[in-house]
Amino acid sequence: MKLNKNLILIGFMGVGKSSLGRLLAKKLNLKFFDTDFILEKKTKMKVFEIFNKKGEPYFRNLERKVVLNLLNKKNSVISLGGGAFNEKVRKVAQKNCVTIWLNWSAKTLIDRIKKNNKRPVASNLSNNQLKDLLINRSKIYSKANYKIECENMAKTEIIDKIVHSLKL
Ligand code: S3P
Repeated sequence: MKLNKNLILIGFMGVGKSSLGRLLAKKLNLKFFDTDFILEKKTKMKVFEIFNKKGEPYFRNLERKVVLNLLNKKNSVISLGGGAFNEKVRKVAQKNCVTIWLNWSAKTLIDRIKKNNKRPVASNLSNNQLKDLLINRSKIYSKANYKIECENMAKTEIIDKIVHSLKL
């Protein structure tokens, strides 16, 4: 499929941006990029290690460059890390991207995030703090072009919902 635009998946940690992004790209025959994966390849470190060894500002700076570079692509599905949808990225994304916010209930997300400890931003937060972060982040995610409610849906249903909502 030729879109001439990129489909950008955004949302909180644990919404499934990477796995759903891969499926969406496959379904639409588009290329797929995942910002965390690219950052890990570039630095030869896991996200957790980048935070620990280099600090969050280093991670954010590199993330910003990687994301802005990816936005120049065409016909791609791009999954952004949960903290990557900043003002500059939003501005550039307006031009040639469709942004899609994947949303689940706070309970589902917190349960998922707490199941593994690979996420540095979440590792020191209590459930209540995570919920506050989700509320704050949601104000930013709500600037996306589309919001897809995913609760109680299977991955294939979510993909169908995206395709249907965007009339692809
Ligand atoms: C982050 C989310 C992570 C990763 C990093 C920071 C965040 O990506 O980029 O740990 O600030 O929300 P996922 O959303 O893919 O977990």
